[in-house]
Amino acid sequence: MLKLFHNHSFALDLGNNNTVISDAWGPLLAQPSYIVFNAARNVKAVGEHAYAMFEKTHDELVPVKPLKGGVIADYESATRMIQEMVNQVYRKRNFFSGFGHVISGVPYSTTEVERRALRDALEQINSRKSHLIFEPLAAALGMGLAIREPQGKLVIDIGGGITEIVVISLSGIAAFQSIKVAGDTFDESIQDHFRRAYNMAIGLRTAEQIKIQVGSVTEKLAAPPPQMTVKGKDMVSGIPVTRKIGHAEVARILERSIMQIETAIVQTLETCPPELAADISETGIYLTGGGSMFRGIKERFERTIKLPVHLDPTPLKSVSQGISQALAAPKNFAGILI
Ligand SMILES: Nc1ncnc2c1ncn2[C@@H]1O[C@H](COP(=O)(O)OP(=O)(O)OP(=O)(O)O)[C@@H](O)[C@H]1O
Ligand SMILES: [Mg+2]
Repeated sequence: MLKLFHNHSFALDLGNNNTVISDAWGPLLAQPSYIVFNAARNVKAVGEHAYAMFEKTHDELVPVKPLKGGVIADYESATRMIQEMVNQVYRKRNFFSGFGHVISGVPYSTTEVERRALRDALEQINSRKSHLIFEPLAAALGMGLAIREPQGKLVIDIGGGITEIVVISLSGIAAFQSIKVAGDTFDESIQDHFRRAYNMAIGLRTAEQIKIQVGSVTEKLAAPPPQMTVKGKDMVSGIPVTRKIGHAEVARILERSIMQIETAIVQTLETCPPELAADISETGIYLTGGGSMFRGIKERFERTIKLPVHLDPTPLKSVSQGISQALAAPKNFAGILI
């Protein structure tokens, strides 16, 4: 029979804040994990366009962020969002001819029910085979770490919805801690701070902008960024107001969250077998995920955890790069595909 269409295979990093679709050769799409519907439940926008509309919609439009805490919180919206993004990459035709192999990342600390939701969403794509892979393992692969070796490696992924801390050895996870303190928590803390300290209402996108533009995990920075002017609304008078903020104030706002992450790192080391802990004292910590881009994070963790810290040069891409590698040679990675 004449084969009209090639069955594409792809890798999916369905992140709490960013979704990346790639094939065995590299990334094809990277978009914020957002979708906007109209009143009739038709898709009005996905990804970048949907994120731009967030907190600016009216009654006729329903914006949804389908993931929370790193997992699917709204199944139908997540499924529609994945379909729309896959459509952007492959056009409609593959939905009829189907896909080859689809591998998706999933946080390590997920329940069976949460993984089931993801599997069900993947099934809607009509692929021949689908597998899941744990995101911290994929991140380690993407960072070029030799995960098969017995030498222990400590990988920390500070994402948008979840921070996962894992000790990897022999292609498996020997110790872990995971906390739902990550990018979204930081944004909410900043928003909250403006409300309490200055009676000023700001949007979550503005809070995220503050975090990125002047974000820091320490008050003492060698090269501090210039202050940022924040636009918001006075909660008493309702009038638009502006206010300046610098990195030291952001560091104070984030202190509690960063300490929670540090506690989780220490707990992971405490529960880690001694031989692996000995390895880690030499190899140090590998930091990835959007949250690893904070100013001062390497110096701070080196001071508090007393281990060398390696920053991932491409923290938003490593998970998808790792999944891509597994897609390119699934037989080699059979042991870590679920
Ligand atoms: N320069 C920066 N400093 C601090 N945080 C940043 C920076 N740039 C992006 N972020 C944050 O990183 C987060 C997104 O990171 P990432 O793409 O790793 O998460 P995700 O994979 O979508 O989430 P998860 O892994 O929890 O499912 C967002 O909260 C974003 O605001
Ligand atoms: Mg992630």
